Amino acid sequence: MASPAPLLDIRGLTKRFGDYVAVDGIDLALAAGEFFCLLGPSGCGKSTLLRMIAGFEPPSAGTIHLAGSDITALPPHRRPVNMMFQSYALFPHMSVAANIGYGLKGLNRVEAGARTLAMLRLVRLEGFGDRRPDTLSGGQRQRVALARALAREPNLLLLDEPLGALDRGLREETQGELRAIQRRLGTSFVVVTHDPEEAMMLADRIGVMERGRLVQVGPPAELYRRPVSRYVAGLLGDVNLIPGRAGPEAGEGVREVVTAHGRVRASSGASLAEGAEVVVAVRPESLVLGGEGLPATVDDAVFLGDRVRRSLTLPDGTVLRASAAPAGGLGAGGATSVRFDPADAVILPA
Ligand SMILES: Nc1ncnc2c1ncn2[C@@H]1O[C@H](COP(=O)(O)OP(=O)(O)O)[C@@H](O)[C@H]1O
Ligand SMILES: [Mg+2]
Repeated sequence: MASPAPLLDIRGLTKRFGDYVAVDGIDLALAAGEFFCLLGPSGCGKSTLLRMIAGFEPPSAGTIHLAGSDITALPPHRRPVNMMFQSYALFPHMSVAANIGYGLKGLNRVEAGARTLAMLRLVRLEGFGDRRPDTLSGGQRQRVALARALAREPNLLLLDEPLGALDRGLREETQGELRAIQRRLGTSFVVVTHDPEEAMMLADRIGVMERGRLVQVGPPAELYRRPVSRYVAGLLGDVNLIPGRAGPEAGEGVREVVTAHGRVRASSGASLAEGAEVVVAVRPESLVLGGEGLPATVDDAVFLGDRVRRSLTLPDGTVLRASAAPAGGLGAGGATSVRFDPADAVILPA
């Protein structure tokens, strides 16, 4: 069965500023109704990619199709796309309702009023229509900006670090709300963030960017469990890297790695020649202490309520972090061993 045509189809999209390549040959297809997050550190090209999709930045090369039409050369206001900027840029002298209704020029007054009310309801700000933005909290202003961006009913909403200005508690609450609103509307969202937890919390799929390139795209669990590189592994959370050399295949998708302290088994990520320098990437919660494994010393153990966090070293000095549910004593300062299920560890190029 053929999959439906993507809502957004980007091919070879590139942006150069002089000699500098800010966005480098990106291919990406997005389904209708998808919540997509672009994740990467500051300066990797996330905003530039978003601005090209919105039409604010002409690409140096490549094409953008939306719902089957080539929109690469269309000006922003002719695209069924809307963008919410990092600074919400609400008009301070206008009421909340007027801010939301701004841009509904094509509708008559009754229609525009009804749409504005629906948007106020959507972001749970009914009754706030007559207020000025400066009388609202940061979270409420964020929701007004979201309502304004959604009022024109775009096919695709682009949000550049939409929660960047909110403090932690409010940020988590607003993440849940953003997700719920997106689900209710079924509008495709592309959210830019440099926060991996936020990306995992929000996205159906995450695209990881590294120096202008999209290096891995997939659902959060896949990126977390099967990163294609040390860069992606480290970006998605805490990870242990055990150095070694690629050994022979050891069953379906599994091969041996020869470490300084013995052989281990892990899932083979990329195809690597035998003898190649590699690292075995294992998350702290996947390390198991005791039993037949690599020799290790527990240097420190900290009780954190729902889990115990241990710091360990291998005889060659490799430092590991393990995280496990509390059980029995903390076991700091002792000799032990570490092992892991090959399915919970992935072999990556060193
Ligand atoms: N108008 C511009 N002129 C020159 N360089 C730019 C311009 N806009 C962005 N850049 C550069 O492109 C790179 C990517 O920027 P940006 O897309 O804003 O990254 P991000 O949003 O991931 O932090 C940065 O090195 C930035 O300095
Ligand atoms: Mg940016």
